[in-house]
Amino acid sequence: MNIESFFKITYGLYILSSRNKEGKLNGHVSNTVLQVTSKPVKFLVASHKDNLTSDYIKESGVFAVSVIQQDIDLEFMGPWGFKSGKETDKFTEGVSYRIGKTGAPILLDKAVAFLECKLLDTHDVGSHLLFIGEVVDADFIQEDMQPLTYSYYRNVIKGISPEHSPTYIEEKVSEAKGDSPTEGHQKYQCTVCGFIYDPEEGDPDGGIAPGTPFEDIPDDWMCPVCGVTKSDFVPI
Ligand SMILES: Cc1cc2nc3c(=O)[nH]c(=O)nc-3n(C[C@H](O)[C@H](O)[C@H](O)COP(=O)(O)O)c2cc1C
Repeated sequence: MNIESFFKITYGLYILSSRNKEGKLNGHVSNTVLQVTSKPVKFLVASHKDNLTSDYIKESGVFAVSVIQQDIDLEFMGPWGFKSGKETDKFTEGVSYRIGKTGAPILLDKAVAFLECKLLDTHDVGSHLLFIGEVVDADFIQEDMQPLTYSYYRNVIKGISPEHSPTYIEEKVSEAKGDSPTEGHQKYQCTVCGFIYDPEEGDPDGGIAPGTPFEDIPDDWMCPVCGVTKSDFVPI
């Protein structure tokens, strides 16, 4: 069986969000959002049982989906797709969102459209829960923007998926291209999120000046996208 063939299945990418009983908000990147009926309009989403968002959907019985626009970078995906709300507050100051009719948060940043649902059914499929909801509201946010597809995310943005994604396949990070780099110019790639450390650019936001070879970065430096340490990087 060639599981790489699954990458020929097409998906979009979304922020699935919800709230808990106390009104705390959370959400995560999801590629599993699917309209399943038209009368009434029902959507299905899949969320890993360990995701905080799953707990919130079970608790509140509501969820929202924002369609991510194509024009994003890996840094945008970091908090939503690689960090759990158990460790970090995602709907913080500076993030543009509004509370929908159901009380679920609707991410407005980098979003093309949204829908929000009242939970009807939950199915346990092992690692993930399938949530089926009836749509109570939907609209455009930035109608003229292109929605992001999984294929664009993988092939153009060079992003990968973490273990909680249903489409997770252990990655062999990209092969080295072109001539061997001269000393100190070797690029390194994060095996968790796909971020590439380029010594020429450094990571000024993380305190690493342009021109710093990977070897000279302090051991407590963290990947600016997903937060892992140097040991999760490999030379490319
Ligand atoms: C491209 C991509 C697609 C993903 N798709 C899903 C998905 O469909 N279902 C899921 O449970 N997690 C998916 N994830 C993983 C979650 O976004 C990730 O585990 C997140 O940290 C969970 O956050 P939470 O614990 O705050 O809910 C995806 C991540 C990426 C980067």
